[in-house]
This record gives sequence, structure tokens and C-alpha cells, in this order.
Amino acid sequence: MTAEMTPLTARRTGPLQGRARVPGDKSISHRALILGAMTVGDTTVSGLLEGEDVLHTADVMRALGARLERGEDGVWHIHGVGVGGFMSPAAPLDFGNSGTGCRLVLGAVAGSPVTATFDGDASLRKRPMRRVLDPLEKMGARVIEAAEGGRLPLTLQGAADPVPITYESPVPSAQLKSAVLLAGLAAPGETTVIEAEASRDHTERLLKHFGAKIVSRPHGAHGRRITLQGQPELEPAPVLVPADPSSAAFPLVAALIVPGSELVLEAVMTNPLRTGLFTTLREMGANIEELEKRSDGGEEVADLRVRAGALKGVEVPAERAPAMIDEYPILAVAAACAEGVTRMKGLQELRVKESDRLAATADMLRANGVTVEIEGDDLIVHGKGRPAGGGEVVTHMDHRIAMSALVLGLVSENPVRIDDSAFIATSFPGFVDLMRGLGADLT
Ligand code: S3P
Repeated sequence: MTAEMTPLTARRTGPLQGRARVPGDKSISHRALILGAMTVGDTTVSGLLEGEDVLHTADVMRALGARLERGEDGVWHIHGVGVGGFMSPAAPLDFGNSGTGCRLVLGAVAGSPVTATFDGDASLRKRPMRRVLDPLEKMGARVIEAAEGGRLPLTLQGAADPVPITYESPVPSAQLKSAVLLAGLAAPGETTVIEAEASRDHTERLLKHFGAKIVSRPHGAHGRRITLQGQPELEPAPVLVPADPSSAAFPLVAALIVPGSELVLEAVMTNPLRTGLFTTLREMGANIEELEKRSDGGEEVADLRVRAGALKGVEVPAERAPAMIDEYPILAVAAACAEGVTRMKGLQELRVKESDRLAATADMLRANGVTVEIEGDDLIVHGKGRPAGGGEVVTHMDHRIAMSALVLGLVSENPVRIDDSAFIATSFPGFVDLMRGLGADLT
């Protein structure tokens, strides 16, 4: 990541057209590297997202003793060290901008007899880690040192003999759930996580794929109760990473709001715990077709055909938040281009993302002439068709704010400029070229 800011401007463009495949899913990519490193033997990963966040996780796995190599064909080869097989790294582990990498590896290290220092960039240093450290301490890990409130940089001593726990998660967070499950791999007996609202289940699916015994049952109206049998012998298995629906969201919304557009986005993961955005957009009147539905590497995928058309404002229920948590900034852009009011409810978790995304999303729209309110944890956007634009958006080291603002600029009356495009590479390397290839004016 360069220290210099790299501004970028998006201008109103003609119809977007063509086919594209967005990079691999970020959540699955992190997990494939971490779990591959915890098997004994060789795992191959195809379609890995080679964004900066995931590359940080790859370096971290190397520092913990696993061997990872990228073949010339783009397939990654991981030589794992097995559950409990990590070594103490010689230097602090650098997670860059990535909350997922950091929180998942906290869990993996908590169940290993090693000591490691965790660090990251200025954005990651602000993010809450206490929520993950609480259950990991119950399992026997010790925080040797941490910044105020348990934040990074922090040093964790993993448990030599981790204890299995039953943990009722106070926040709907797949990162928290995954940290407990990864620590539970090294504990004897059953580790259980109960969540009131189901979060993305890629850790559970991949653990099963690698041979662990893990059972997920419904809990209450929207939740799950997940039980992992500890100390499995994880078996290497090839992983195929499907295209990331959270990245597909940007060209997809662009195609919906730029008049006359039609795009096909290939092999997008349609795991129901990730597709809240598609549900919401369809409720708004969007034309999104799923073609060639298939199953690829344990996940459902489809080609998405998207056509531009009029959108109307809707109310988005709070219980849908976990299934579209990363998509609110781009949904807010769609809402600004719809007719009528969109109310997005229960967005408290947005305040602790790569930026305070609730405030950053509201500011992005306001800077471009859109009327927005924040009421408690709800975001309310007054849609009026075509926004005025003409604003400069402060991205706060947040890739999703950067990409959302650029999509807004493709349809606004006046250009939209972002202060820094560098962080887009954390999750979507090649975004600018891909969008230009479809017809976007980004300079
Ligand atoms: C992720 C979970 C979500 C999401 C993040 C990726 C994951 O965070 O925002 O981009 O891969 O587990 P939380 O689990 O903290 O909600």
C-alpha cells in the first residue's frame, strides 16, 4: 500500500455492456488459506482472491510455519502443518486493512501453543478485537499486551491445552463465530457457538470439506447453533473459490442504474447467507436473473444477468443485515437513484467496519446532493432518480466506500471524485480495468 493518495473521478457514462468475472470470494479465500495451513499435507486453492487482504493472510500463514506457493497457473499450493502445528512467528504479524484475516487468525493462534503479535494499518488498529478476545480467553488464550480496549497491536499467547466452550455470540459476526470454531479445533470435546442471527457459514462448510465433524442446527427464528467436534485430523482437499458476491455488487448496481445497461456477471456465489442485496434489489424492482445455477466446490453459484430499469424505495428489515452487511454502501447508491424513500434498519455493525461505514455512506451521498438521515441505527435515503453528484468523497481507507462512490459517479449529473482509490486493491484488484472494460468512465 502506497502512502500517497491516488484520487479517481467517475463521470456519467453510456450503457454498460458485456460479460465479466469478478475476483474470488474474500471470505472463502482467507478461510481456504488458514484451514489449508491447519491440515496435514497439501491443499490446492483455485480462484483465490489475490487482493491485499488475502495476501496478508498468506504471509501470516508462512510466518506461522506453513508453506504456501502460487503456481504459474494461478493455483495456490499450501503445505499445512496440522492443528496445533504453528510455530511462534519471529516478527509481528501484519494484517494490513483486514479484520477478517486478523480475527480468524486470532482464533487459530488461540488454540496453538505459540505467542504472536498482531498488527495492522491505521483503520484496523481502530477496530474492536475485544469481542473476539473474550471467548478466546475463556478457551485458555492470554492477552499479554494490547492497545486500549484490546485493540491492535496486541500480543496473544495461545493455549497449550485449549478448553472447549459453548458461546452465545452477542453480535451477529461470522468473524467472531469463526474465531471460536478455529480455536475449538485444538480443544478436546465439543465447541458450540450459538448465534441469534445466522451469519455467513463458509467456515462451517470448509471445515466439513476438510473432514471435520460439525453440525449446524436452527436456533430461534433466525439463528443457528453450531457444534464442532474438536481435535479432528483435517485432511487436505482442493478448494475452488467462486466469484465474490460482495464484489459483483458494484458492477451489478452500476448496470441497474446506468440507463440501457445489460451485463452478465459469471459464476457469482449465491450462498443464501450472502445474497441479501439481491433480495433487496429485486424488491426494489431490479431485473436480476440467475442463469446456469450450479454447485462449485461446496457453494452454489450462478451467472447473473442484470438489466437497467426503474427502482423504487423499500424498507430493508434489520434481520437481513448479516446477509448483506458489506453491501449497504452500494445499496445506498441504488437507493439514491430509486424513486422514493429507502429505510435500511439495524445497521449498528456498520459503525465498526473498515471505517464508520454508516457515517461514511451518509457523507458520500450528502456530498453528492442526496438527502440522507441517520435515525438511531437506521439509514434513510431519499431517492430522486439521478443524483446531482459533483462531490469529493472521503474514503477513510475503506474500499467499499471508494467503489460505491465511483458507481454513483457513473450516473450522476456531475462527476464524483474520491480522495483515494488505493484501498480498492484490498478486496477487488482490477476493479477499475474491469469497469472500464464494461464502458465506465473512470479517470
Ligand atoms: C466476514 C464477515 C463480516 C464481513 C467481512 C467478512 C467474514 O464481518 O463484514 O467483510 O469473512 O467472516 P463480521 O463477521 O464482523 O460481521
